[in-house]
Amino acid sequence: MNKKILIVDDEKVIRWTLRKKLTDWGYEVIEAGTGGEALDMCQKENPDLILLDVKLPDYSGTTVLKKVKNTYQNLPVIMITAHGVIEDAVKSFKLGAYDFIIKPFNFEELRNLIKNALEAFSLKEEIASYRKKEKRQYSLDQIIGVSKKIQEIKNLIKKIAESEASIVLLEGESGTGKDLVSKVIHYQSRRNNYPYVAINCSALPDTLLESELFGYEKGAFTDAKSQKKGLVELADGGTLFLDEISSMKISLQAKILRFLETLTFKRLGGVRDIKVDLRIIVATNQNLENLCKEGKFRWDLYYRINVCPIYIPPLRERKEDIIPLAEHFISEFNVKFRKNIKGLSKEARNLFLNYSWPGNVRELKNAIERAMIFEEDDYLSTKYLPIKLNHIHVKKEALLFEFPETGISLEEVEKQLVIKSLELAKGNKTKAAKLLGISRDALRYKIKKFNLN
Ligand SMILES: Nc1ncnc2c1ncn2[C@@H]1O[C@H](COP(=O)(O)OP(=O)(O)OP(=O)(O)O)[C@@H](O)[C@H]1O
Ligand SMILES: [Mg+2]
Repeated sequence: MNKKILIVDDEKVIRWTLRKKLTDWGYEVIEAGTGGEALDMCQKENPDLILLDVKLPDYSGTTVLKKVKNTYQNLPVIMITAHGVIEDAVKSFKLGAYDFIIKPFNFEELRNLIKNALEAFSLKEEIASYRKKEKRQYSLDQIIGVSKKIQEIKNLIKKIAESEASIVLLEGESGTGKDLVSKVIHYQSRRNNYPYVAINCSALPDTLLESELFGYEKGAFTDAKSQKKGLVELADGGTLFLDEISSMKISLQAKILRFLETLTFKRLGGVRDIKVDLRIIVATNQNLENLCKEGKFRWDLYYRINVCPIYIPPLRERKEDIIPLAEHFISEFNVKFRKNIKGLSKEARNLFLNYSWPGNVRELKNAIERAMIFEEDDYLSTKYLPIKLNHIHVKKEALLFEFPETGISLEEVEKQLVIKSLELAKGNKTKAAKLLGISRDALRYKIKKFNLN
């Protein structure tokens, strides 16, 4: 569809000349001779851009500009001024005009101006609609759960989001929802019109992480051919999410601490202090206090980030949430896969409630996604649930075991038993080894083998 441009000028000849050019360039053109008409047209015709003369018979161009900008914030307006009336131009810029062009026109310049303005406009619109969508997607009621713990967490999130708290700590095992919570905090805060920037500290070696975070000046190191802004600057006004902070090396931790205390930093190789205004959300799936005791995490940094902690418990400690979450994902995937699964079958329900969900909500979501792809019945059966879910559960001392038709991997059985024994023994390896009838060393070996730390 052709972009629609509104020409506002009281001189007919000018409108005529402009119309001819703009039509040649492939635009649809509408015209107005007065400010009043222009405002009318804006409402009725929804133009994509306005060419607005500064001098009009009824209102001044800047008044019209102001009125337009009040209602259509992102709509680009290019002012037309006569030669030498620079004050008007300055005033228009302040009121949000995209640019101005001086009569008599340089058409090449005008053409570029319009093209750029329209591009900038559609980008802005796109970002605005994206943000709107994100705000909806990351509302508080997207966090599912009926357990007391989740309710408490939601209250906490609401308070923190509305507060000015500049640092938030999210602790919880992998898959418990730290990412989700972090986004909800951002999109429910006053910062939601500014960027949300996330970085995973374990994904990059420390030197790279530092330059990603703080940026660098030209020539700071051999490859620094030009200046680069860091994520900290890009997130200015918004939220910076530092995921897996525990994997940050001690030396960088000191720099981060300094930054957290002042919200001021220097780009690598730079001398100037740069101040930013942002909220930092830090996440970890390890126990930071233990890491501090082991000398792997700085106590001072820990104290600094532990001001507003939110701990998300693993799913096995809030079993009431399992079924509501499962039902939530079923309806989500019903939409995605155009299916109409009505819920969990009785067997699936039992299975879900008895399983320990070491991968937490993520594992639950994945299990449902997979099963829903294959399920032919109205209710989700156990048939297509991932094997490791299929009936290994320890009840008191007895081991109930049903051999799934689809077969089973012995390794997986062993892994689940090791997990279960550790759970029953509350992490005490000597006890867990006893439960399994093996030596402590053998258990240690298995924990390592299955990566269960
Ligand atoms: N309470 C919840 N309600 C709805 N969806 C949830 C909930 N908790 C987690 N999820 C979903 O489960 C998946 C995993 O969550 P998320 O990625 O936030 O976990 P995480 O704690 O960041 O894990 P990791 O430590 O591995 O990064 C996501 O798809 C997330 O949307
Ligand atoms: Mg995460």
